[in-house]
Amino acid sequence: MKAIPLSRRKFAQLLGAGAAAALVRPAVSFAKQSEHLPATSQVVRLSANENPYGPSTKALKAMTDSFTLACRYPDEHNNVLIDKLAKLNGVNRDEILLGDGSSEILKLCAETFTGKERGTLVAADPTFEAILSQAAVNGAETVKVPLTSSFAHDLRKMLVAARGGLIYICNPNNPTASITPKDELREFIAKTPRDTMVLVDEAYFHFADSPDYESVIPLVNDHPNLLVARTFSKIYGMAGLRCGYCVAQKPSIDRMHARQMWDSVNIMALAAASASLEDPDQVPNGQRLNKEAKSFTVHELEKVGYKTIPSQANFIMFDCKRPVVPLIQAMKERNVHVGRLFPSLPNHMRVTIGKSSEMESFVSVFKQVAA
Ligand SMILES: Cc1ncc(COP(=O)(O)O)c(C=O)c1O
Repeated sequence: MKAIPLSRRKFAQLLGAGAAAALVRPAVSFAKQSEHLPATSQVVRLSANENPYGPSTKALKAMTDSFTLACRYPDEHNNVLIDKLAKLNGVNRDEILLGDGSSEILKLCAETFTGKERGTLVAADPTFEAILSQAAVNGAETVKVPLTSSFAHDLRKMLVAARGGLIYICNPNNPTASITPKDELREFIAKTPRDTMVLVDEAYFHFADSPDYESVIPLVNDHPNLLVARTFSKIYGMAGLRCGYCVAQKPSIDRMHARQMWDSVNIMALAAASASLEDPDQVPNGQRLNKEAKSFTVHELEKVGYKTIPSQANFIMFDCKRPVVPLIQAMKERNVHVGRLFPSLPNHMRVTIGKSSEMESFVSVFKQVAA
């Protein structure tokens, strides 16, 4: 909240208005729904890789229908979602662990598989950094391995750096939106010794459409040291609700579960996640809208000479050809919020793909500040 130049009260009022509008909104198609969402403020928030269209109308209805369940513990609602996720991913139900966002899954992985006795955490640079600090708090040595020149994970060097513990692969990678090719990743997983865990974070899985990309969930069956994290925060538009999950073999799930807080996923998030999976439009519409707004943005940047790293996610990263920090600040002063500085790429800006109108604002403001 600190980054938004709105008073907390004003922001809460705006959120309230948005939520109220959502509740009275009739059940319309996803695309129509997104067109009619009220503009919440002048702030264009392109800083956190959120989904600007929000949850499925089925999820919104499931949440309102479950208001009366707020006094109950989530117990059996956990089971409903676990059953659906097991079926969706072709695994057993005891190979799924729900989390309070995939952030909780990452934290549990750091706590369970890294530390002074358990070993190092190896991650790319730059990547999504939460797990690095969680491993460090745990007393683990952390090793950062720079991405390759094509912004893929340098799997060979990561394997050399590993000492038991855990190797974290973010695919597609945040902040670069790049992928690590499927053949390389498959070979790497096959080669990694079993005393080293491999966590593949697939938060942006749904936005990747390259023939060189695939999920590694089908490999879990053959690899006891493989863990995969997924989230409802991105394509399902539920970042504020907090729900994610892990797919792994039962012994790993059991070890993580033993460290987890009871009832960590709240009942509204469970209801919404479960209903989202029943909406056949949520994923394809989200993919289409993201692709359209992304093509527009990439093309507009190219026209004025800025090259984007090929994006397989709901955000882009591009070379600003000068230090990014003053640009981030200048854009913020004009109410367009983009991603923070990533120190190993000091001239690159990360921008979430919002709605088309938001991307038009972004392009126009970027051109002003970069002129
Ligand atoms: C790669 C990656 N993993 C995990 C997360 C955490 O997501 P959540 O805790 O909302 O599931 C994020 C959030 O942006 C992310 O970019």
